[in-house]
Amino acid sequence: MKVLVLFGLVAFALAEVTRFEGEKVLRLKPVLDEHVTLIRELADSIELDFWSPDSAELVTIDIDVDIHVPAAFLELASTRLQQSDMEVEVLIEDLQSSIDAQTGPTPRTHSYTKYNSWPRVQSWIDAISTSNSQLISKQSIGSTYEGRPMTLLKLGRKSSTTKPAIFLDCGIHAREWISPAFCQWFVKEALSTYGSDSQMTSLLDQMDVYVLPVFNIDGYDYTHKSNRMWRKTRSRNSGTSCLGTDPNRNWNAGWCCKSGPSARAAGASKNPCSDTYCGSRFESEIEVKNVADFIRRNKSNIKAYLTIHSYSQLVLFPYSYTYQLAAHHSELLKVAQGAASALRSLYGTRYTSGPGAATIYPAAGGSDDWAYDLGVKYSFTFELRDTGRYGFLLPESQIKPTCMETMLAVKYIAAYVQKNL
Ligand code: ARG
Ligand code: ZN
Repeated sequence: MKVLVLFGLVAFALAEVTRFEGEKVLRLKPVLDEHVTLIRELADSIELDFWSPDSAELVTIDIDVDIHVPAAFLELASTRLQQSDMEVEVLIEDLQSSIDAQTGPTPRTHSYTKYNSWPRVQSWIDAISTSNSQLISKQSIGSTYEGRPMTLLKLGRKSSTTKPAIFLDCGIHAREWISPAFCQWFVKEALSTYGSDSQMTSLLDQMDVYVLPVFNIDGYDYTHKSNRMWRKTRSRNSGTSCLGTDPNRNWNAGWCCKSGPSARAAGASKNPCSDTYCGSRFESEIEVKNVADFIRRNKSNIKAYLTIHSYSQLVLFPYSYTYQLAAHHSELLKVAQGAASALRSLYGTRYTSGPGAATIYPAAGGSDDWAYDLGVKYSFTFELRDTGRYGFLLPESQIKPTCMETMLAVKYIAAYVQKNL
């Protein structure tokens, strides 16, 4: 008994939680080359957490640059910024208060309008997959780095033959909590509107939808327990104590980290300590490998790949690893714009659509480009709400409206794919 108590105390002491008291999120508005240079210099000399774009090298003139400045560097950063004439807006005064304000008291059970912890999501997966065996089933596609099972849900009316399918994943990036919330919402809506909503009924009769509710489970769990701002996986890297690889820079799509003179890092980093580290090789991350293997095995029936991120309100499609237009550019643009206007019809939320590289920034090694080059023509990345007011800390009160409007966009794409099978 005493030994158990002691173990408990030790475990408690080891479970360190990163706090963000007094830390700010700033929006910088570079309009001159000097501003861009200053931001890059700052990023080199101090630890900046880039919220948007994802890293310093992606900073260009005339884009909003949202950065989280750790407390230790706030003085230095403010001094340097004040010396320049760049416009700076404070998005978040005190990050810890915003984190505390994002979630209410920890709910006792799973809720579609709350941010559920991984154990809650896991028991939800188990419960929902046995709730309606005519319409839903689950299968394991492997385990995460830390050994958690990656369970894929399959929605669709049972059929003796293989149906064409859509693959939907959420939670590639750990801190983008609205994303897993959407996948859970999607599953609930699909099950509860089958039979009453004609579009959902026809979709699930004719097609299957594979849903991976949380892609980067280890990272997601870590954001709940230790560091709310974590983005990457939690795998070890050799030669450094920095953990994790960016699971959206780790796919075999213009992957950047090959050595040699031709290696050009496009929006991805070779530094394991960076938040956009592309990994030691493509598919070095077991989570990426598991999903890539599943999609490769089923590529003849997977007709669309949808991946949900936040934030920025975008519907993106290939390419991101190059400025070259995709072979199906005009069709993809038309579908993305259709999805964005369906989304906007509910509450007027404005989304921008376009190819990744030109619309936001070039970034190699992403899942959307990989799926597209594999032959999955309808490949889209969503960046959900908002545009920076709360960023990753979108309040729980926005889960429902965000999911409801996003449903319209996803259903629009699904209907289009279905019509064009
Ligand atoms: N914010 C997302 C990311 O950086 C955008 C993904 C767009 N697609 C891409 N292949 N980079 O991962
Ligand atoms: Zn993301």
